[in-house]
Amino acid sequence: MENVLCADCHMYSAEGPPRVTGHEFKPKPEACAVCHDGGAPPQMDVAQSAAKILELKDATHDHLYSAAENVSVASSLLLLSEEHGFPQTVRDQALSLFELANYSLIFVEADGSEGVHNPTYARDLLNFSNEKANEVISLLATGSVQGKLKDGSGNAIKDARIMRDGYVLVITTANGSFAFGHSPGVFTFDVVKDDRTLGEISDVEVVEEETTDLGTVNLPLVADDFGLYVLIVVSTIVIVAIALVLYGIRIRKA
Ligand code: HEC
Ligand code: HEC
Repeated sequence: MENVLCADCHMYSAEGPPRVTGHEFKPKPEACAVCHDGGAPPQMDVAQSAAKILELKDATHDHLYSAAENVSVASSLLLLSEEHGFPQTVRDQALSLFELANYSLIFVEADGSEGVHNPTYARDLLNFSNEKANEVISLLATGSVQGKLKDGSGNAIKDARIMRDGYVLVITTANGSFAFGHSPGVFTFDVVKDDRTLGEISDVEVVEEETTDLGTVNLPLVADDFGLYVLIVVSTIVIVAIALVLYGIRIRKA
């Protein structure tokens, strides 16, 4: 409102009784009525002014909630975007859009009047925020991949990490199953357990908003595992043999 000063709304004073000094900086509907009851349009007495303030706030809240919700979804997608495997260029673009969305939202929130200071501008900013947040959301939309990991003998491989580019996308559950979100495209994922690579799940096609079900994924026991197995068996035999020899020596001495 042009030519309406902060003090006009925030420092309404009256001789009273009761005497109102306006020093609380609290806008009173009585202040609105000074200009709007019989003066500037829209026509409002004190009660109508009070109702108008609530109405303006309510309208702002509706826009604020939906913008805030989308900005928060956009924010979590952005945080996961590297892990989800989106290229740097897409992530940079998403970040600039997110900044516009977030800044516009914060602008309205931080103003503190819940839209009363400038209802039209507040609504436009929140619509803009919503729009930009939705652009981030569609730019960073993922697909899902799911399946069950088993070894050569058909046993579930649990606690295995499914990884790409050093990111742990998911850890398999007790029955070997897994599900995770990823950017669309064709990818190869590594399967790692206890710091050893068990193998890879290659050429997985991820489709936006869809689930790629890989069913049972068999990873035969790799050479590394077999080597370890042989080592354990051989060293057990050697330890037992040494123990028997030492025991024999003791019996003979006695
Ligand atoms: C048309 C009347 C009007 C004018 C002019 C106005 N305000 Fe407000 N202002 C309000 C209303 C109504 C609220 C919401 C008060 C509430 O929620 O109790 C508010 C809220 C605020 C708040 C938030 C208060 C809080 O408790 O968080 C601040 C800060 C503020 N105004 C500062 C200003 C400043 C600075 C100016 C001048 C540049 C100004 N206002 C001009 C009506 C006005
Ligand atoms: C100092 C006088 C003055 C005070 C105090 C005042 N207004 Fe206004 N208001 C105006 C004038 C003048 C206009 C019309 C010119 C304009 O829109 O810039 C207006 C316009 C409006 C409009 C229409 C805006 C639009 O864009 O259609 C609303 C709604 C409004 N005021 C609400 C309020 C409320 C609520 C308060 C109290 C919190 C208040 N005003 C306090 C002078 C005042």
